[in-house]
Amino acid sequence: MEYRIVPLCGALTEAAARMESECFGEEITAEALSRFADAPANHYFCAVGADGDLLGYGGISLVADEAEIITVAVSPVYRRRGIARALMEHMLRLAADAGAAVYLEVRASNIPARELYRVLGFAETGMRKNYYSAPREDAVLMMRPAGAQETLLC
Ligand SMILES: CC(C)(COP(=O)(O)OP(=O)(O)OC[C@H]1O[C@@H](n2cnc3c(N)ncnc32)[C@H](O)[C@@H]1OP(=O)(O)O)[C@@H](O)C(=O)NCCC(=O)NCCS
Repeated sequence: MEYRIVPLCGALTEAAARMESECFGEEITAEALSRFADAPANHYFCAVGADGDLLGYGGISLVADEAEIITVAVSPVYRRRGIARALMEHMLRLAADAGAAVYLEVRASNIPARELYRVLGFAETGMRKNYYSAPREDAVLMMRPAGAQETLLC
């Protein structure tokens, strides 16, 4: 399907804030998301369809040679079409350019996300007990070494 990856800005921020509550059950205002996305270390991107609709979005934080995936989410109707993979590859390219290892945390029960990260070269490095609330759940810690970037990204 046709879409492009663009930086998060303007009206897309409203749509991303709505998607945040749809996908994670967490309420965030567009203003708060915009402030967070505009922080110097943070880089947010959107997948936008041909009609300008938001299909998905993701954010990465990058400081020196360390990066962290903040979030990635795709609208339920557009899943399993490679959109999260495209957003992730876009963000991983930024990390690759900085020679940064990439870290993230994911709910233990979130098999789709764990699988997405695994196919992109992340390995599980540990677990944080009861890290998440509502519902309480462990976090799986994952890492993609800096050296993996060139070989895994095409
Ligand atoms: C996780 C999520 C972002 C995946 O988005 P998506 O656009 O459907 O993912 P893609 O189509 O790019 O999938 C890429 C690969 O990830 C894996 N994957 C994605 N969804 C999967 C699922 N439901 N079950 C198993 N593997 C899955 C597959 O390996 C897939 O490749 P394939 O389709 O060729 O088999 C999406 O399910 C989502 O928004 N979930 C809610 C938000 C969330 O949990 N975000 C992660 C927070 S840590």
